[in-house]
Amino acid sequence: MPQPLTARRSATISGRVKVPGDKSISHRALILAGLATGRTRIEGLLEADDVMATARAMQALGATVSRNGDAIEVLGQGVGGLGVPDGALDFGNSGTGSRLMFGVLAGYNMRVALTGDASLCRRPMSRVLKPLAQMGLRVEGEGDTLPLTVEGTDDILPIVYELPVPSAQVKSSILLAGLHAPGRTTVIEPVPTRDHTERMLRFFGAEVKIETCEDGSRAVTVAGDAELTGAHVAVPGDPSSAAFLVAAALICPGSDLVIENVLLNPTRTGFFETLREMGADIEIVGERDEAGEPVGDLHVKSSDLHGVHVPPERAPSMIDEYPMLAALAGFAVGETRMEGLSELKVKESDRLAVTAAGLAACGVEARVEGDDLIVSGTGAVRGGGLIETHMDHRIAMAFLTLGLGTEEPVTVDDVGMIATSFPAFVPLMSGLGAQLG
Ligand code: S3P
Repeated sequence: MPQPLTARRSATISGRVKVPGDKSISHRALILAGLATGRTRIEGLLEADDVMATARAMQALGATVSRNGDAIEVLGQGVGGLGVPDGALDFGNSGTGSRLMFGVLAGYNMRVALTGDASLCRRPMSRVLKPLAQMGLRVEGEGDTLPLTVEGTDDILPIVYELPVPSAQVKSSILLAGLHAPGRTTVIEPVPTRDHTERMLRFFGAEVKIETCEDGSRAVTVAGDAELTGAHVAVPGDPSSAAFLVAAALICPGSDLVIENVLLNPTRTGFFETLREMGADIEIVGERDEAGEPVGDLHVKSSDLHGVHVPPERAPSMIDEYPMLAALAGFAVGETRMEGLSELKVKESDRLAVTAAGLAACGVEARVEGDDLIVSGTGAVRGGGLIETHMDHRIAMAFLTLGLGTEEPVTVDDVGMIATSFPAFVPLMSGLGAQLG
């Protein structure tokens, strides 16, 4: 049953909060812990549906995942030590979990079926299956979408692969497969994507080399026949979840909000950088390093925004934040042009089309031109629309956040999918002053 929810214009969004753990890092912590020998302790793991699907998959493959107080502990089986699961691995809504898992499975001589929900079963998998096939993974049937059955090999081959699309999921999948290979596996990325896999592989003891090529591309190499050792991981707050709180504080006059312990890895901070260019008052306090990742506190005050040009090369560093940025662009004065967004078409929904349609329903002038999204802001947004979320958590959260600043209430058709990445979104926002109900 769909669960609609309405957002109403709110007074200030103020206080001091923490957002839940980073989703990308949480998936990777569970996977690498399962491939490590010994015990890994994960603090701050995001306990949302997407990540729990990865935890169940690792358990089905033989890792032990248990709770110890506030932490999650994983007893790994070592690279090469996983076993045949009882049934299909179900990744629910999670593109990251499923695509990374193909890379894990490539090095195992066993048949495994993978599946997911209706949204995930529409998303392209050939982007990971193609390079993994070069390494030795076999896929049964012809399909490009889940459900799929694959069979890995004990004789996996190292490759050098240049990413045709800027995707951290594809890069990570190949690097995970490369752990089993005899020799070095290299992924070349013309545009840098989030680098949590390389950072965490090093943290667990793998040999990883990162070089800049003559043309400016990044080459990431992992040494095969790797051994990983259990570690202590502290997962920082998710900047993609913090994005909604930051946006709410910016558009609700008089807001003064501190979000503690947010991941500030430069491959993830494009949204904050863009907002500052738009005139946002966002200050970073107490920057520090935790378990190989930069973190800090964000101090945000409500601000008058103006339109900007967001260049295509910035897209990977804020790829999940475009629905929220586009909504904020409606509150900015002038045109915001966001370029190079083809990857948005293959996310949990076609986010380019769904975002533009949602904005139009709220009276914001927005148009798609090829892979670009152009929003003409007037400084105020009418609202009043019924937003179709298309099983997409970030669309639901972006438009609920937008509704906190609009003249008329904004209703989203279903908030059920928010649990995939940010189960506490509604109570946390409400606790800061958001009118959601
Ligand atoms: C993710 C990478 C991004 C992002 C997704 C999480 C990851 O996808 O959209 O939410 O954890 O590697 P792509 O790498 O396919 O762009």
